[in-house]
Amino acid sequence: MNTLAESSERLVDKFGRTVNYVRISVTDRCDFRCVYCMAEEMEFVPRAQLLTLEELGLIARAFTELGAGKVRITGGEPLVRRNVIKLFRDVGALPGLRELVLTTNGSHLEQMADELRAAGVRRVNISLDSLDAGRFRRITRVGELSVVMAGIRAALRAGFERVKLNSVILKHRNHDEVADLVRFAVEHGIDISFIEEMPLGIIGDHDRAEVYYSSDEIRADLERVWTLVPTTETTGGPSRYFRIPGTGTRVGFISPHSHNFCESCNRVRLTCEGRLLLCLGQEHSVDLRHVVRAHPGDMQTLKQAIRDSMQIKPKGHEFNLSGKPVIFRHMNVTGG
Ligand code: GTP
Ligand code: 5AD
Ligand code: SF4
Repeated sequence: MNTLAESSERLVDKFGRTVNYVRISVTDRCDFRCVYCMAEEMEFVPRAQLLTLEELGLIARAFTELGAGKVRITGGEPLVRRNVIKLFRDVGALPGLRELVLTTNGSHLEQMADELRAAGVRRVNISLDSLDAGRFRRITRVGELSVVMAGIRAALRAGFERVKLNSVILKHRNHDEVADLVRFAVEHGIDISFIEEMPLGIIGDHDRAEVYYSSDEIRADLERVWTLVPTTETTGGPSRYFRIPGTGTRVGFISPHSHNFCESCNRVRLTCEGRLLLCLGQEHSVDLRHVVRAHPGDMQTLKQAIRDSMQIKPKGHEFNLSGKPVIFRHMNVTGG
């Protein structure tokens, strides 16, 4: 750990919450079309509007110097961005970095796991909603389960400090698989987080209120098969973890609806166009692309814009599953 180099500065918002975690989306594109994330037909950001890899690296550096030492690279699917490994290498070498982590759908891990590990990625979170190829295809619309499985195996071989599965659970789609997904995690000695679907963007596929399946229901289903012991362990994200005695697996629950975690929010997110979003469930944002392009190479101005953004970080989301979503941006814009 680079503790000595860590910044003495902290980003604190007006509710007293310290922001020590930045999620950087490097593309809104993806080779899957998960039904809870995107509509079938999507318009993506024109490539000319994307931040360059250099600009993304500069913003990551500013955050680490401001005490946000946990950097997560997200998408869309981050590994479809051309030459993205360069960004991982640059961020992996930042003196103020606490940890570099990745969220991916796993489709490119078989080819890239080793170079990501070598670039300094410590932990990888891989989306996996079903162990059945047909279901997996229905949920991702186009995804191939065997490719993701090969990606998971490659991640295990590459020696990341931890691998975690992320499963978004939808009633009558995959809610009956939760115990099997945990068994898969246990067999591979990895963690798993179950996520309640969030209403971002119009997706067309299903009524989000109808498919809602709460973390408490999942937990009750799991407890018929597994013993779950609550822990206070944290990965610095929104998961509340339970241990399964006798295994190396932690089971996490991300419950924006049933157990709101905004009070302890420690993160902000950058879109691939350079919009710094202060909350996943609100539109408060600062245009950092404008800042880096109007003041090229001016780290002080960039850092000041980030410090100032803390004043507009909202108290929390106002997600509501019935009716139309109030946030029209889809999840692929922020990578969660
Ligand atoms: P760890 O570092 O392993 O704890 O990862 P993480 O849970 O922070 O990141 P990941 O990308 O795996 O995200 C898992 C889920 O948590 C995704 O569905 C995200 O959208 C969701 N999530 C992350 N941060 C927030 C947040 O601030 N608010 C809400 N509502 N959801 C979030
Ligand atoms: N609600 C909850 N989680 C979502 N994800 C994508 N869209 C949604 C949504 N609408 C998940 C993905 C991935 C993580 C980054 O966010 O499955 O694991
Ligand atoms: Fe792609 Fe992830 Fe969205 Fe699925 S959830 S479509 S894998 S960005």
